[in-house]
Amino acid sequence: MSILDQFRLEGRRACITGGSRGLGLAVSRGLAEAGADLVLIGREPEALATAKEELSATGRRIDILPADVGDPGSSEAAARRVLSEFGPIDILVNNVGGRRIPTPTEELELSDWQRIIDLNLTSCFLWSKLLGGAMLPRGWGRIINIASISGLIATRGIGGRSYETSKAAMIQFTRALAADWADRGVTVNAIAPGGFLTDPNVRWFSERPELRTTMESMVPMGRLGQPHELAGLALYLASDASSYMTGSTLVIDGGYTLW
Ligand SMILES: NC(=O)c1ccc[n+]([C@@H]2O[C@H](COP(=O)([O-])OP(=O)(O)OC[C@H]3O[C@@H](n4cnc5c(N)ncnc54)[C@H](OP(=O)(O)O)[C@@H]3O)[C@@H](O)[C@H]2O)c1
Repeated sequence: MSILDQFRLEGRRACITGGSRGLGLAVSRGLAEAGADLVLIGREPEALATAKEELSATGRRIDILPADVGDPGSSEAAARRVLSEFGPIDILVNNVGGRRIPTPTEELELSDWQRIIDLNLTSCFLWSKLLGGAMLPRGWGRIINIASISGLIATRGIGGRSYETSKAAMIQFTRALAADWADRGVTVNAIAPGGFLTDPNVRWFSERPELRTTMESMVPMGRLGQPHELAGLALYLASDASSYMTGSTLVIDGGYTLW
């Protein structure tokens, strides 16, 4: 197989949680352009429908399922529906996540802590267990966990440490699960992004341009990432090109964690 053929995804089906916007949409576009059919998960049906319309231009089959992945009960029910209605799934991208609550620890409510752990970590466990578990008998699968550099370092000047904690746990879950499934054809890897210009960040920076300048000054490359700059890495991890890689966390941050 030629080197470029190793990146082709024809005949594969990928499920991307949070595939309707932001980094998830950029990853979805990349996987579809490489030949994969997709199942996209998100809360807002309109955003999913818009993504489906856009991504259908690739000629791939695009299915959508509205669900709240942050609530363990509805998250598990949605994962089971994906398997029964759209399976088999070859590639799972656990992308949904966020900080959401920038409250200092000394003021953080237990319920808020738990909500972020469920959003970032419990969802990753449930979808890996169900969709990843169903890959094992077929002997081929790819799980890609979208973590964060905040799982490796503490982000300066912001509260909500349930985010750092859940992303760090996601990275270690990636390693442990990768070890368990390494000889069964299913690889498990993580991506740790730095700051990317997704729509909410663009809006936030347009209201507070001084924050963007501060953020950019902390990045050796002097700029934040564009969502499409994550897609090539996700495609590598989703394809046969990464056949000997498992349990890794790949940092993509313009050099942010170098200083
Ligand atoms: N953007 C960055 O700079 C950055 C940096 C490091 C790590 N990350 C990580 O990258 C991942 C994606 O980030 P993003 O900035 O693209 O995220 P985002 O803008 O918050 O969300 C993007 C997608 O997730 C869906 N979503 C959010 N909450 C959901 C829920 N509870 N259930 C189902 N779908 C949900 C959204 O659709 P709906 O709103 O319609 O549900 C949308 O499709 C996250 O895990 C984040 O922690 C991002």
